[in-house]
Amino acid sequence: MKNDRANFGSKLGAILASAGSAVGLGNIWRFPYETGNHGGAAFILIYLGCIIALGLPIMVAEFLIGRRSKANTAGAFQRLAPLTHWRWVGRMGVLAGLLILSYYSVVAGWTLEYIGEAVSNSFAGESPTDFISSFQDFSSNPWKPVLWLIVFLLITHFIIVKGVEKGIEKSSKIMMPMLFILLLVLAGCSISLPGAEKGIEFLLKPDFSKVDASVFLGAMGQAFFSLSLGMGCLCTYASYFGPKTNLTKTALSVGAIDTFVAILAGFIIFPAAFSVGIKPDAGPSLIFITLPNVFQQAFTGAPLLAYIFSIMFYILLAVAALTSTISLHEVVTAYLHEEFNLTRGKAAKLVTGCCIFFGILCSLSLGIGKGYTLFGLGLFDLFDFVTAKIMLPLGGLFISIFTGWYLDKKIVWKEISNNGSLKTPFYKFFIFILKFIAPIAISIIFINELGLLN
Ligand code: TRP
Repeated sequence: MKNDRANFGSKLGAILASAGSAVGLGNIWRFPYETGNHGGAAFILIYLGCIIALGLPIMVAEFLIGRRSKANTAGAFQRLAPLTHWRWVGRMGVLAGLLILSYYSVVAGWTLEYIGEAVSNSFAGESPTDFISSFQDFSSNPWKPVLWLIVFLLITHFIIVKGVEKGIEKSSKIMMPMLFILLLVLAGCSISLPGAEKGIEFLLKPDFSKVDASVFLGAMGQAFFSLSLGMGCLCTYASYFGPKTNLTKTALSVGAIDTFVAILAGFIIFPAAFSVGIKPDAGPSLIFITLPNVFQQAFTGAPLLAYIFSIMFYILLAVAALTSTISLHEVVTAYLHEEFNLTRGKAAKLVTGCCIFFGILCSLSLGIGKGYTLFGLGLFDLFDFVTAKIMLPLGGLFISIFTGWYLDKKIVWKEISNNGSLKTPFYKFFIFILKFIAPIAISIIFINELGLLN
């Protein structure tokens, strides 16, 4: 095992890197479309419940496993539970990371195309139906999205190999607040569009009659996906945390930032979608067909402002996606590097190569490969379903059982309290959730989805 492991420079660095991993396409692209597919406000309420009751405690658990073991995900379980099968939890996480990175890069590639469209001002003068058809033409084109996804993976690769995370840490100190401010402005614009009230109602007025098992599974999956949980991503990051980082506080900050960004994204997308007549259940295309309308309709008197905001938005979205793809790539690279004695460079090449391969298949599954399905889903949708709705919650289930039942409580307490130097008012509650609430809740949601409860 290597002992040249890097460290995040500061406590703020730890928060920023984790928040950088958490905030991404999951918040701005996936959250709105899942909310739209699952009927709006009631889904959001259940989602918030999942963040608080499952997400935050499991995030702290991942942090403590990572910092204690100072190893990659699979190695972490190996060290804390030698010669047991727990290492399979880590291995499943590594596989999940590879699958997520593959289809995530497809969408990340789309953001690059949209930067180009914004720069060349091609949204100007187009109507909502134009945006829908141009997105469909683009995403089903066999070449363009594939090229962009390769570009995106190569940028991620370059950063992983050159280790310019420090640069990323610094730039996210500026980019993240910029993203917040821009999102706030856009939400303001979207809310003031004619007919936006229906979108606000959709976000705030829960209709529980539409809630079924799939809404619960969707909300739980989205909570894990958005917080980067259930596959050891934050566990790998925490292995680079210093001894003074307050794990509980870091988790609360990351959870708050992540949730705030997702809700803001909702307030941008739905008022605008209802205003211009785009259906909220348009699926993965939702933000790509709705947002250009916001730039078009909300700034009719100020085309220059629309132009600048649209470029800024897609650049910030691409950067948010990049800090997430880096974290996913790092999980798999650190695993191959440390467990198989590959150099970091070789490990990274293997990961990038695999993801380009699967990414191309995912991208084609939205166009010329549409006819090929497995369990009724194309590859892109299948990767999304299997990871977010099965592997991540399953990983979360095992992580909570591992921390709540298996791990020596002295270790848990030492990590949470930084060797006794912090007060731990939530400690008992935290253990109770990991022991009982999380495993039972996740199991019930799974069993319910399988239809065994009705
Ligand atoms: N959370 C990120 C987003 O919202 C995506 C992501 C990064 C992720 N690392 C992860 C999702 C690990 C699941 C697991 O965009």
